[in-house]
Amino acid sequence: MTEGQRLAILISGYGSNLQAVLDAIDSERLPGAQIVVVVSDRDDACGLERARRHGLPALHFPYPSRDSGRQTRRERDGELATLLHEYEVDWVVLAGWLRILSCEFLRYYPMRVVNVHPALPGQFPGLNAIERAFEASRSGEIRETGVTVHLVPDEAVDAGPIILSESIAIHPEDSLESLTERTHRVEHRLLIAALSQLLSES
Ligand code: GRF
Repeated sequence: MTEGQRLAILISGYGSNLQAVLDAIDSERLPGAQIVVVVSDRDDACGLERARRHGLPALHFPYPSRDSGRQTRRERDGELATLLHEYEVDWVVLAGWLRILSCEFLRYYPMRVVNVHPALPGQFPGLNAIERAFEASRSGEIRETGVTVHLVPDEAVDAGPIILSESIAIHPEDSLESLTERTHRVEHRLLIAALSQLLSES
């Protein structure tokens, strides 16, 4: 593994995937990796507080609302790339970041943006994937869901070259809560395994 790989973690909420990366680094399961900045598009994201407790730069980076005429989202994506450049970021991890990043951002990090999607490849792209999988299981459409960690080469939602993916059986006795908890546990493990693989290959 190349020493000194600098990660930016982008979040929008609770930050349990961020916590998984923090724990993995603390317990030396991602040797050579360091988080250099945590960014949230929402100022009330709990993950920002997790990062601050860890002594990391934790930045609120708001986006213009859809009807704001002053600045486009694409322009803001470009500013985000500039911000991460200041931290000399090598890898960008979308850990519960709920925005689609445009090419204004992605062109600065070709094959260097990693996303975790709480469903199998190609399934339930976008928001509320676990809830939608649970509902599909209840109507008999699916019997398993999963987690996918993939690279983000373009603006396609929750799609791109797969690093790792794992299935999760949905049991008849599952509730949305139990499926959510199981999916999150797999996310946390798979994200670290995928990062470990990527960083060791780079
Ligand atoms: C995760 O399920 C992630 O895959 C999805 O949003 C959730 C965020 O969880 N996109 P957290 O903020 O990492 O706890």
